[in-house]
Amino acid sequence: MFPDPPAASSKAISSFLKEDRSFPPPAAFQARAAINSVSEYERLWNYAAEQPERFWAEQAESLLSWTRRWDRVLDWQIPHAKWFVGAKLNVSYNCVDRHLTTWRKNKAAIIWEGEAGETRVLTYNDLHREVCRCANTLKSLGIKKCDRVTIYMPLVPELAIAMLACARIGATHNVVFGGFSAEAIADRNNDAQARLVITADGGWRRGGLVPLKQNVDAALLKSPTVEKVLVLRRTGQEVTMQEGRDVWWHDTVDKASLDCPAEPLDSEHPLFLLYTSGSTGKPKGILHTTAGYLLHATLTSKLVFDLKDDDTYWCTADVGWVTGHSYVVYGPLANGATTLMYEGAPNHPDWGRFWQIVERHRVNILYTAPTAIRAIARQGSDIPARYDLTSLRLLGTVGEPINPETWMWYRDVIGGGRCPIVDTWWQTETGGIMIAPLPGATPTIPGSATRPFFGIVPDIVDIHGKSVEADQGGFLVIKKPWPGMLRTIWGDDERFKTQYWSQIPGVYFTGDGARRDQNGYYWIMGRIDDVLNVSGHRLSTMEIESALVSHPAVAEAAVVGAPHDLKGESIHAFVTLEASMSASSELKSVLAVHVVAQIGALARPESIYFTEALPKTRSGKIMRRLLRDIAAGRESRGDTTTLEDYSVLAKLRDSEET
Ligand code: PRX
Repeated sequence: MFPDPPAASSKAISSFLKEDRSFPPPAAFQARAAINSVSEYERLWNYAAEQPERFWAEQAESLLSWTRRWDRVLDWQIPHAKWFVGAKLNVSYNCVDRHLTTWRKNKAAIIWEGEAGETRVLTYNDLHREVCRCANTLKSLGIKKCDRVTIYMPLVPELAIAMLACARIGATHNVVFGGFSAEAIADRNNDAQARLVITADGGWRRGGLVPLKQNVDAALLKSPTVEKVLVLRRTGQEVTMQEGRDVWWHDTVDKASLDCPAEPLDSEHPLFLLYTSGSTGKPKGILHTTAGYLLHATLTSKLVFDLKDDDTYWCTADVGWVTGHSYVVYGPLANGATTLMYEGAPNHPDWGRFWQIVERHRVNILYTAPTAIRAIARQGSDIPARYDLTSLRLLGTVGEPINPETWMWYRDVIGGGRCPIVDTWWQTETGGIMIAPLPGATPTIPGSATRPFFGIVPDIVDIHGKSVEADQGGFLVIKKPWPGMLRTIWGDDERFKTQYWSQIPGVYFTGDGARRDQNGYYWIMGRIDDVLNVSGHRLSTMEIESALVSHPAVAEAAVVGAPHDLKGESIHAFVTLEASMSASSELKSVLAVHVVAQIGALARPESIYFTEALPKTRSGKIMRRLLRDIAAGRESRGDTTTLEDYSVLAKLRDSEET
């Protein structure tokens, strides 16, 4: 997600979060790790910062297969980057074909588990066969290089197959999350001018059917550019097939020829579009291209997850988000890894589902979101205790700041105290991980994404672009181009320039607030739009939320500001309690005192609302914008189409604040 430009203030953001716990990499982990000391990390980081083109060229040579070598590593006409100019390669070839001439031919590429518990395993050889058939079907449906293809599917292997098939022939995919509505599909079809939609009859979600094809039918009434629809039979539910437009996967892909050589494509060939919504305005089609994106996803997967050939790696993200693109599909497969995909919800049939999957498939690496961890932790530690989690060796998080208490719970209860945690900061726009520990090298501190990845040069600056001192909060920017960076906003290069490159000239503006401590560790404070201004102090909502979550009664918290005559803004907290706790006005006072003790009187919440659930986006981010409306007592403005559960808002409005 990336909101529209904030009304930036010149004031720095104050930071109060103090965290003394630090965890060096466990010796057993370190002994096997690819990067296994701070000095090695620093040596490589400095090398990449001083000679980025040489660093990336060496990585490109050793990690990827090319059909033509580049003439130049980087052409940087700020803000437009071209990486590996003149080279040719194919992403599908790199993720699939090249493993077939090695022992990995019969290695599991994808292990899939359906919501009902059924499993499928596709080896690299199987994957190759299916991708070739699907790619030939795309061709027979008239899809050519550079055409856009919308993919709106449940989390099944065919989703990855469809993406790789597009990449194989040079079509640009545009994955739309299977939870979005017909309206959202139509908007994205139209903006991308998609010619084909790949979908399924339906999908499973918490035991219920999601009418995917029906949503596509409704969307196509408003998507004039779409000519054909390819439909996978997943649930068997009844659908209407329109003669001449809609074809079944089993009638076409399953019968298509296996012979489909991967098309050599230009390094800057458009690989995919992924739409992310701003807080206002229409969704932006973030454009990622071929070589740079793949290199960034491949190298970060290899080093941040310290991928080994015998690992079973599971990223729980839906492929509809960028995390699923880079770290379910492209990064792991380019490394020849085994990637696990789970179709369903974390609480189906109960809150033990993730741990049952870990036990069943002996998962070694688990990458998930803080929101999922908090929801699971809220149900109590006895649920994970029922499962054998000893196969886990590394844990990861992404998507939001993780509160230190949640981090500790993840470490102790899920990781058994033995697994490093990689808290990875990045964005749809950055293509891959930007700031994260290297698990065999970087000592971790709960709540910090630690240090930048190789070739990534961040800074914390004020609104004039001047670096702020250590421990001062400010705007997180990236000072040098990197291979996975977005190339533009599809069809709107002006918006690309103003949104990301004009706020502070010469650097990439992330829209996040952060601070860097004395040791060079980064602490992400959340979106700049979420920063509060209380009596002239700019406070990070995330820090107040962390203070609340550090109280044993609290499972999750969201803090927002509302206009206040005297202070400018006053603080309002929305709190979800641990399942075993009940709400009381006494507890509200206790929590207010707790926040004051943790941060200071400045941060005392003006009001605390207890709520069963918080309004979240489909990807699990708290929609503070909606909470701000509630705190200010006004109707919700702007777009609510990304809200996961509409009933949460109604309940919140009904709940009495005391
Ligand atoms: O605010 C940051 C937060 O998520 C934003 C990017 O969201 P999106 O484009 O949907 O991509 C999510 C998956 C990469 C960032 O601007 N964010 C992401 N990771 C972290 C984070 N905030 C704090 N810590 C993180 N590890």
